[in-house]
Formats: sequence, C-alpha cells, structure tokens
Amino acid sequence: MGEYPPALVTGASRGIGRAVALRLARQGQPVAGCFSTPGEAAEKTAAEVAELGAPAYFAPCDVTDPDAVEAFVAAAERELGPIGCLVNNAGITRDSPMVLAKRADFTAVMETNLGGTWSFCRAMAFRFMKRRAGVVVNLSSVAGIYGNHAQTAYAASKAGIIGLSRSLAKELAPYGVRVNVVAPGFIDTDMTGALTDKTRDKARAMIGLGRFGQPDDVAEMVEFLLSERASYVTGQVFQVDGGITL
Ligand code: NAI
Repeated sequence: MGEYPPALVTGASRGIGRAVALRLARQGQPVAGCFSTPGEAAEKTAAEVAELGAPAYFAPCDVTDPDAVEAFVAAAERELGPIGCLVNNAGITRDSPMVLAKRADFTAVMETNLGGTWSFCRAMAFRFMKRRAGVVVNLSSVAGIYGNHAQTAYAASKAGIIGLSRSLAKELAPYGVRVNVVAPGFIDTDMTGALTDKTRDKARAMIGLGRFGQPDDVAEMVEFLLSERASYVTGQVFQVDGGITL
C-alpha cells in the first residue's frame, strides 16, 4: 500500500464526486468510482483519473441495490487492494411541494441517498474494524440541517445521513475509524443546473458570498477529512455553503 490507501467514491462520474476522484488521484491515491449510468461522463472521469497516473477502477453500481454494493466493494478491493477511504456522495433530488409529492419519489430519494450510504457503510464497517483503519465521509446538505422548500424527502434523507454518520462514528471510534459529514450549500453541478433561473437568483441572493460554490470547493473539504491532517476529527458535520446559513 502506498502513502494513500485506495478510496471508494460513489457517484464519481460527475459533479462533486468527480471533483473528489480527481483530487485524490492527483495526490496519487488509487480511486474506485461507481455511478448509476454508464456513458460519456463516467468514461471521461475514469480516463482523467487514469491519466493522472493513479490506479483506477470505475464501474456502474446502483447504490440502492445492496448486493450490487457488496459486489462493487469486493471487485474494487480485488483491483486496487484494501479500501481505506469511503466517500458516500451519490445522490438524487425529486423536489416537490408536499401537497403534490409522490410516495415513489420519496422512496427513490431515501433509497438512493440514505439507503445507498447505509449499504456502503455496512459493506465497509467490518473490513475497517478488522483492519483498525479506515475513514468515511458522507455527503449531506444544508437542506438536511435547516430544511428547504419542496425538499421534504431530500432533506429527510440528508438529515438521516447525519444521524447515521454520528452513530457510526461512535461505533467505530474505538477501532480508530473516523466518520464525518460534509454538508454543501448550492454547488454548480448538473443537480443545480436543473434549477430555474428564478430559483437560482433567489438562492444566490441568500448566499453570503454571493455565488454558487464549485465542486472542487467541496472536494477540498472531503480531501482534508480523509487525510491524516484530520486524524483527531470524527462525528462532525462541516458546511461548505458560502455562508447561506449565516
Ligand atoms: P450530480 O447529479 O452532478 O451527480 C450525482 C452522481 O450520483 C452521479 O455520478 C450519478 O451517477 C450518481 N448517482 C445517482 N444515483 C445513483 C445510484 N442509484 N447509484 C449510483 N450512483 C448514483 O450531483 P452533485 O451535485 O455532484 O451531488 C453530489 C452529492 O452532493 C449528492 O449527494 C448531493 O445530494 C450532494 N449535494 C449537492 C449539492 C449541490 O448543490 N450540487 C448541495 C448539497 C448536497
């Protein structure tokens, strides 16, 4: 194992997950990346990671399928060696005011965001405990802390990730394993690209720093929390939100 143990990043094809994968690869860290839909974005990110000279394993894996999650972890460890860092980043939104909300959307959001995070934590927990090493960063959202209009399902899933992470941090701390949460505000990705201009303007007006963040702003925090520089930090939630909650 080199200086950096292999990292597993979910939702690594684009947006924040892609920025995390590239950052880790840039420091020579092997990266296993999963994503929902094979296609150009995933191929491009996988190629860029490989170009940086870091060993890479990129493959589709539906995080809502626990068997697929276990199979992905096993394949990633076969390809790259024991995973030392887990970043649960895959996520979706299905925004709707409560009076119009559909139960199927609630289930999809919960299963992807919270269920997927749970399944990867479940797959890695015993491996990390046995090795007495490992670090987890889970992606929540400021919506999970403060709530947001038309995001009852999304906010519930992201609040759930905080509860899950704090509990897991308590369970795994005796094994030297750390678990932290990053809660971004509005970040320029495909996810927020779907917002209307009106919503974007309203959001921007609420952000202290007056602009949306970039995926790499979040990746910087994730990289720090994964690193030895954060070796005394666990069970915490870090907002990267340009001051939207001030
Ligand atoms: P994105 O939509 O650009 O990318 C999402 C990634 O998740 C893609 O790689 C996609 O393939 C993957 N994914 C989705 N469903 C999946 C599934 N069932 N199985 C496997 N992979 C799946 O999203 P973005 O903006 O990069 O968000 C990343 C994370 O950050 C998400 O958890 C999101 O909720 C969170 N976040 C994003 C914010 C933003 O403003 N963009 C704000 C707060 C939180």
